[in-house]
Amino acid sequence: MKALVTGAAGFIGSTLAERLIADGADVVGLDCFTDYYPRPIKERNLASLARHPRFRFVESTVQQADLPGLLSDCTHIFHLAAQAGVRKSWGTDFAVYTVNNIEATQVLLEAACRVRTIERIVYSSSSSVYGDNVSMPMREDALPQPVSPYGVTKLAAEQLCYLYHSNYGVPTVSLRYFTVYGPRQRPDMGFHRFLRATAQGDAITVYGDGEQTRDFTFVHDAVSATVAAALRGVPGRVYNIGGGSRVTINQVFEMIGRVSGKTPRITVDPAQKGDMRHTYADTSLAQADLGFHPSVGLEDGIAAEYEWLSGVL
Ligand SMILES: NC(=O)c1ccc[n+]([C@@H]2O[C@H](COP(=O)([O-])OP(=O)(O)OC[C@H]3O[C@@H](n4cnc5c(N)ncnc54)[C@H](O)[C@@H]3O)[C@@H](O)[C@H]2O)c1
Repeated sequence: MKALVTGAAGFIGSTLAERLIADGADVVGLDCFTDYYPRPIKERNLASLARHPRFRFVESTVQQADLPGLLSDCTHIFHLAAQAGVRKSWGTDFAVYTVNNIEATQVLLEAACRVRTIERIVYSSSSSVYGDNVSMPMREDALPQPVSPYGVTKLAAEQLCYLYHSNYGVPTVSLRYFTVYGPRQRPDMGFHRFLRATAQGDAITVYGDGEQTRDFTFVHDAVSATVAAALRGVPGRVYNIGGGSRVTINQVFEMIGRVSGKTPRITVDPAQKGDMRHTYADTSLAQADLGFHPSVGLEDGIAAEYEWLSGVL
């Protein structure tokens, strides 16, 4: 496999690139170090990859990269570059989301149209496309109605992937990740904030009553699904990737207490616009087509993230 990983300096992208290298692939990582969170964190994500002879890093936006050159003998594209996070996607920041999530995807798909060696393009979509109006567990054929501008941009890019598949035969596969966590998790994400606060003896801010639920996915399980999608995902299809660990945020705090040996202190803020109330993935399609079976239970995964975070604080 000769792979291009966009967003390779990020949380999931760097973990994926390491897995591809371990599996024997040649990997080009592309990332422009957006300022959504600090660059040194992303450089640390890349540290072990940068020393590997089968890994090459290119610092550029997707839009400005020499895509014909990068894709010339590429067999697989993993498109993870995006502006993440639902809460910041309102207001004037929306432009950052349309540029990095929609326009970048369109530019990449246009370039991929012209390359005959491409076997799969795996696009990292999100459970955020569903919104609050679908029945549980969420199925891929439900009508998506995002409740955040971020979700709108992820859905638009997913639709672009489908368009380029149906019109030009580009072999796109989209994965709707459900809240990914584990070592290297972004500093704005819930578990990272909760574990950091607990480790440092600070209060945890929870938005809403804590009875909202999430289907949490350990990063190595998300990465395994992503590799499987590249090898045997059906072009044009969309798959839910959820860890099967659906719990309330209040239950997460109990686990954090057990894992850390400390009692989390909680302060409550109002629920935030753009946050979904519940997520819960029906993963039967990913099981059938990709052989997807998440292997890391939630408390073990939280312990792994806590151990990692303790080492970098
Ligand atoms: N983390 C999750 O729980 C989750 C859930 C659903 C979907 N996703 C999706 O998975 C992908 C990876 O998420 P993450 O949590 O690792 O985020 P991340 O912010 O850690 O990684 C994204 C990377 O993309 C880079 N980037 C952004 N725009 C770019 C552009 N135009 N050109 C080049 N690089 C660019 C950023 O610098 C960053 O390093 C994203 O597409 C995200 O929308 C993540």
